[in-house]
Amino acid sequence: MSRYPSTQFVDVAAGEFAAIVGPSGSGKSSLLAVAGTLMRPDAGSVLIGGVDVGDLSDKDRTKLRADNIGFVSQGTNLLASLTAVDQLLAGVHLRGESTNASRDEALMLHDELGLDSKSDKRPHQLSGGERQRVGIARALMNQSDVLLVDEPTSALDHDRGSQFIELMADLTRRRNVATVMVTHDRSQLARVDTVHEMNDGALTSEVSALTPSVM
Ligand SMILES: Nc1ncnc2c1ncn2[C@@H]1O[C@H](COP(=O)(O)OP(=O)(O)OP(=O)(O)O)[C@@H](O)[C@H]1O
Ligand SMILES: [Mg+2]
Repeated sequence: MSRYPSTQFVDVAAGEFAAIVGPSGSGKSSLLAVAGTLMRPDAGSVLIGGVDVGDLSDKDRTKLRADNIGFVSQGTNLLASLTAVDQLLAGVHLRGESTNASRDEALMLHDELGLDSKSDKRPHQLSGGERQRVGIARALMNQSDVLLVDEPTSALDHDRGSQFIELMADLTRRRNVATVMVTHDRSQLARVDTVHEMNDGALTSEVSALTPSVM
């Protein structure tokens, strides 16, 4: 039993940028894995677009994940041998779909994220921030409705981290995505719409619409 009062749930609308903050080991990445249907919860449920994903078959859950959910994991997990644009097409290829049709979307996302001059570079030729942007672009392929981002600024200095958060806030609105970002850096919450806190594996509070003036 947690010694903190529990808020029980996180509800994120399309076009909303939500943050989950909490100390290391509090369960933030685990919550993202459950929210993204990578892990089944021991208790509770996950609803995406009103559908309880616990009611879906494994096959339907995998399809929902591939079609609707973009992940950016802690460390971007890019494939060393692929160029920046091919990172975005690898998932399309794995699903057995034609990558030709998706190449334009991939290049458009690169353009939107300021990566257009880097499309033919491999991960070791990119900076940490550029790699993170490739990770975001990959997560947004196939018009994802949900974007789950784990500690996106941990490898960046404060200014680059702030720029990156700005970019995510803009993308969230422009693409009308429901974005959940996990972080333990409370100095990066100015552009976020809602902040949820986690402690000892439980959601403990929600602070709505933080503005820079209350930081
Ligand atoms: N696969 C696993 N099996 C068992 N325990 C795990 C597993 N993954 C994580 N844990 C434990 O669950 C707790 C929460 O881990 P989680 O990775 O969700 O924390 P976190 O809040 O993301 O931490 P950090 O800020 O360090 O990334 C930790 O105590 C961790 O040791
Ligand atoms: Mg984590």
